[in-house]
Amino acid sequence: MNKFRLVMIATLVATFLFVGCNQQGKDSSGALASSAAEKVYVAPGEHDDFYAFISGGFSGQLSVYGLPSGRLFKVIPVFSQDAEKAWGYNEETKPMLNTSHGFVPWDDSHHPDISQTNGELDGRFVFINGNNTPRIAKIDLSVFETTEIIEIPNSAGNHSSAFVTENTEYVVAGTRFSVPIPQRDMPINEYKGNFQGSLSFISVDPEDGGMDLSFQILMPGFDYDLAHPGRGASHGWMFFSTYNSEESHSLMEVNASQNDKDFIAAVNWKKAEEYINEGKFKTMPANYAHNVYDEETHTATSTMKKEVRVLDASELPGLVYLLPTPKSPHGCDVNPTGEYIVGNGKLSSDLTVHSFAKMIDAIESEKFDGEAYGIPILSFEDVLAGTVKQAGLGPLHTEFDGQGNGYTTFFISSEVVKWKVGTWEVVDRQPCYYSVGHLMIPGGNSRKPYGKYVVAMNKITKDRYLPTGPEVTQSAQLYDISGEKMELLLDFPTVGEPHYAAGIPADLIKERSKKIYSLEENKHKYATTSDANVRVERNGNEVHIYMTMIRSHFNPDNIEGIKVGDKVYFHVTNLEQDYDVPHGVSMIGANTSELLIMPGQTETFVWEPKQVGVWPFYCTDFCSALHQEMQGYVRVSPANSDLELSWSLGED
Ligand code: CUA
Repeated sequence: MNKFRLVMIATLVATFLFVGCNQQGKDSSGALASSAAEKVYVAPGEHDDFYAFISGGFSGQLSVYGLPSGRLFKVIPVFSQDAEKAWGYNEETKPMLNTSHGFVPWDDSHHPDISQTNGELDGRFVFINGNNTPRIAKIDLSVFETTEIIEIPNSAGNHSSAFVTENTEYVVAGTRFSVPIPQRDMPINEYKGNFQGSLSFISVDPEDGGMDLSFQILMPGFDYDLAHPGRGASHGWMFFSTYNSEESHSLMEVNASQNDKDFIAAVNWKKAEEYINEGKFKTMPANYAHNVYDEETHTATSTMKKEVRVLDASELPGLVYLLPTPKSPHGCDVNPTGEYIVGNGKLSSDLTVHSFAKMIDAIESEKFDGEAYGIPILSFEDVLAGTVKQAGLGPLHTEFDGQGNGYTTFFISSEVVKWKVGTWEVVDRQPCYYSVGHLMIPGGNSRKPYGKYVVAMNKITKDRYLPTGPEVTQSAQLYDISGEKMELLLDFPTVGEPHYAAGIPADLIKERSKKIYSLEENKHKYATTSDANVRVERNGNEVHIYMTMIRSHFNPDNIEGIKVGDKVYFHVTNLEQDYDVPHGVSMIGANTSELLIMPGQTETFVWEPKQVGVWPFYCTDFCSALHQEMQGYVRVSPANSDLELSWSLGED
């Protein structure tokens, strides 16, 4: 296909999209029947049935919603600084955002995945990728906080991530962009044959959930787009969609669309483990951060790791096979039994479904149809299970309901299409408003989906809500999928751009949700767990304030002897041991954020006073009837003052 024709197609697609949106906008007003309203109504004081963890995309965070209500409960800060929660502002969490590039207080978070045991959701952790500065984060669902972030070396645009295997043996992360490995100064136009991709396997400790970059697999210089694990029969395998098998490096919309087929790469990670155990890896120098938040010290540490074990797919037989898949596949999804791998060619109208059993047969009979950099290519016909024909335009992602149906999003024709696994026939379609990307069925990427709802995450919002200037909210839509036909129930706005989500029955999490931090177990270096230990200490121009807070005062609340030029550390411990009694603390002129401190927790901010005077601080969280009285003063004297430090509470 020549370049001109492709540009023409792109223009047509854009026109269709524009027209499609406007047309659908007109007839969408009657979509919500009164029975739909009942289905999403969660009465005051009642709880939702499901949690939905929806990625924030360019917000870098992870939002927690209830389903079916669509109510927002929390935004969990992950890769981006968050002034509301002091994430990345207080001394305790700053190390969480450390990388080999230094402090990186933002990322692009895409694909959350919930930990599994025996192929079923276990509700312990959510993992999510940072795309831009490649990282994988772990959120502990007993506290709904990010407790670990590991940087991924030899990766760029960490997109085919973060997907867990059936027993959370690994969280898998694949590079989107191929790059020189190791990074070096070289001409970009020497990409072909010189740039490489990497697929990373991060082990997860079965006991404490600790992550470790176990090994990486070096791959040809394609782009690796999405991934999903094998399950059941295909447990031990991981599948990655690829595009740009052309290995081009410029004007990708044209040059990476030349080949009729790209590949799904089937990676045998059990085989990789064998090769690791046999010592068939190379140890490459690397430089990446491993950041861990300790819940006893309430403090994060960052460690720089210096090497990584690498397996070369070109040299190690049986490690990777390539399944030809039409038209630059995007989504790469595996059904609950693990037999079918769906590749959605985003420039196609058909869905290609590969068979795992046929793949194994073809491998065992060594029926190969060429190779790429030493990696065997299987024949398309040999691995094809079936095709969902003419299902729509621009297929992106597929999820499964556990009743033998697949649900695929179509970006260009803006719809969710339901089809039967095995017969490949389309059974229903419902429009999305507008241009849906990912979709999510709770447990849809496990052996046991909870097929009651599907959430569509849309790329374009246009007229769905009250206008808010040029920037409008991003949007999700909830459909009931419990019947033969899908039913649109609800639109709800989202934080950032939702790329993907993971959902889970609330019962699997809510009983284990932590209510307070135990003061007795607080091992923070600067904790002040009783008022007897309250004090202020000077070490040169560093001043450490050991402060407590309880309804409704700080101790101390009057401090004198601070000087201009001092670096003042407020180490503040919340002495409360009751559920839902956080206090906040903020200091005038502080170049950080307030601290929002949970019961039993200690946090620290730094204040560098620039001006002589008497400066107030106060509680930022409305904690009691006397919240407004929860305040104090710091006296700041000139740099050359010889006023001694003193502190007090309730003295005249
Ligand atoms: Cu403590 Cu408001």
